[in-house]
Amino acid sequence: MSNPDSIRILAIETSCDETAAAVVVNGREVRSNIISSQIALHTLYGGVVPEIASRKHIEKINQVITEALKEADMTLDEIDAVGVTYGPGLVGALLVGVAEAKAISYAKGLPLIGVHHIEGHISANYIEHEELEPPFLCLVVSGGHTHLVKVNDYGQYEILGRTVDDAAGEAFDKVARAIGLGYPGGPKIEKISYEGNPAAIAFPRAHVANAAYNFSFSGMKSAVLNYLNSCQMKGVEIIQADVAASFQQAVIDVLLGNIEKALNETGCKKFALAGGVASNKTLRKAVEEACIKNGVVFYCPSPVLCTDNAAMIGAAAYYDYISGVRSDLRLNAVPNLKLGEK
Ligand code: KG4
Ligand code: ZN
Repeated sequence: MSNPDSIRILAIETSCDETAAAVVVNGREVRSNIISSQIALHTLYGGVVPEIASRKHIEKINQVITEALKEADMTLDEIDAVGVTYGPGLVGALLVGVAEAKAISYAKGLPLIGVHHIEGHISANYIEHEELEPPFLCLVVSGGHTHLVKVNDYGQYEILGRTVDDAAGEAFDKVARAIGLGYPGGPKIEKISYEGNPAAIAFPRAHVANAAYNFSFSGMKSAVLNYLNSCQMKGVEIIQADVAASFQQAVIDVLLGNIEKALNETGCKKFALAGGVASNKTLRKAVEEACIKNGVVFYCPSPVLCTDNAAMIGAAAYYDYISGVRSDLRLNAVPNLKLGEK
């Protein structure tokens, strides 16, 4: 017999290059979290190819959902609602998940909940931290986003700052390509940085004028490219590990600057990291130390819940579900959906 007090959500995520499905109970208990990664496929091209991503999602989506239900030891008859990422992301990729979720919702008569991808990343923090409740500050750092957000309540977000150009993960990917590390850049830069000197090269720490909490990473990326060009012109040896470690340190310093400012000015005593770049151990450690120094409790999901997954979508969908938020069968993919829009 299933427990009537438990809300079981089947969650689907296909916004970029991972086809993912999960079953999450009451927003925090992950019964299954299946991720089919396309990284190996896109590595051949040095980045995500949208058409290939959509085609792969179509091939994998049913298999991934079947596996998620099997691992959770449930059938669709025991599911209470379907949650799905409907933006932001690649339109063709999002559409696969949205169409699948609508089909399941219609066929089984289940409530449908469209979830914002960044809201999913933030909600990944609820899964392993039972005690975490809003309000808290959260930095979402991924391949597509760098947002400093005040989570005032479940589903209530106040954006304090965001990147004005490249996202932090995008900068990691571009710099990795420039120094010959390949795709995906973040994990490769992290790995080689352990062998490098973070103080070897003084890359600029950009601060955005008149916008206290905004970020800018494109200047830092250009500074790395200029450094590489000038070394080549002067015949100076390029030490990959030093470039990687110095770039990573510059990104961390910029993120830390805004985090500490926001903690001081808001007086918030809880801080959470989220998004793919949050799986970087050097960043996690630096932010944790800053939190301890400021008397703030630090939260961060395990690496598998930082990068794209469907469990985080199930966590976000649950809080929408209990507050009565529902989508209908007109739900569509919204590639540039803003946080806080429904
Ligand atoms: O959250 P995510 O999986 O997808 C988006 O929503 O964008 O983030 C992917 C991004 C990529 O840019 C990747 O290079 C970066 O996260 N990333 C990392 C690390 N692991 C993934 N960046 C730095 N260090 C890492 N260990
Ligand atoms: Zn993401």
